[in-house]
Amino acid sequence: MKFLLVTDLDNTLVGDQQALLCLNRKLAAYAGQVHLIYATGRSYASARQLQQEAQLLEPAYWITGVGTEIYCQNQQDASWAERLSQNWDREAIVSLTQSFPQLVPQSQAEQNPWKISFFLRSYQSNHLTEDSPEALLADLRSQLAHHNLSAQVVFSSNRDVDILPQQGDKGLAMNHLRTQLQVPPEQTLVCGDSGNDISLFQQSTLGVLVNNAQPELLHWYRTLAQPRHYLAQSGYAWGILEALFYFNLL
Ligand code: GLC
Ligand code: MG
Repeated sequence: MKFLLVTDLDNTLVGDQQALLCLNRKLAAYAGQVHLIYATGRSYASARQLQQEAQLLEPAYWITGVGTEIYCQNQQDASWAERLSQNWDREAIVSLTQSFPQLVPQSQAEQNPWKISFFLRSYQSNHLTEDSPEALLADLRSQLAHHNLSAQVVFSSNRDVDILPQQGDKGLAMNHLRTQLQVPPEQTLVCGDSGNDISLFQQSTLGVLVNNAQPELLHWYRTLAQPRHYLAQSGYAWGILEALFYFNLL
């Protein structure tokens, strides 16, 4: 039976080119035994561009926009889009965020119908606790709840804030595909480095955090990880390779 490898791109699969090429060779040699899925915060166009630049293998599926979109052979999964549109009021959420001056919208190319993305502006001169990212995120979540707006707020790399439908994140998109491919959780490895990968680890599969993981993911690991989660000793794609051996998938 094939195993399933689901990996984040930036700073997980991509970041150390020598490691990436080494992992590519391994996966090419095992091509008949592995389903490959990329799960990224990038838009589909931007992920395809990275594929060119970094020489990424062609995966079976692309999960893009932090799980808000699923692509297979350039075709967007319409049923996923429909699922995410339920109970999702993008306009109302955008207008609510306008009362948070610390949220600086990301470029138009990174927004999509189910993803509203910002950079968090930091106030270096001011150390008041109200300005900590945690306090801001808590305030944003409570405002959304107060207005009965269904959404989840994802914080990554100590900087990026994504607002997504409750039903749409990397973990739920991964599980949707895993079920479709009929691969059991114990034959599935998810790989990540930052906050938007936490949802991947929250499903019931095996997981590896590459050694260069961001503080918010390491914090999650220290407080909530399970024995099926492995913190690699090496970084980037070396960490993925290490985990493939650690979990006996190769
Ligand atoms: C990627 C996306 C960005 C998002 C971030 C964290 O960098 O381009 O829009 O905020 O991932 O999920
Ligand atoms: Mg990443």
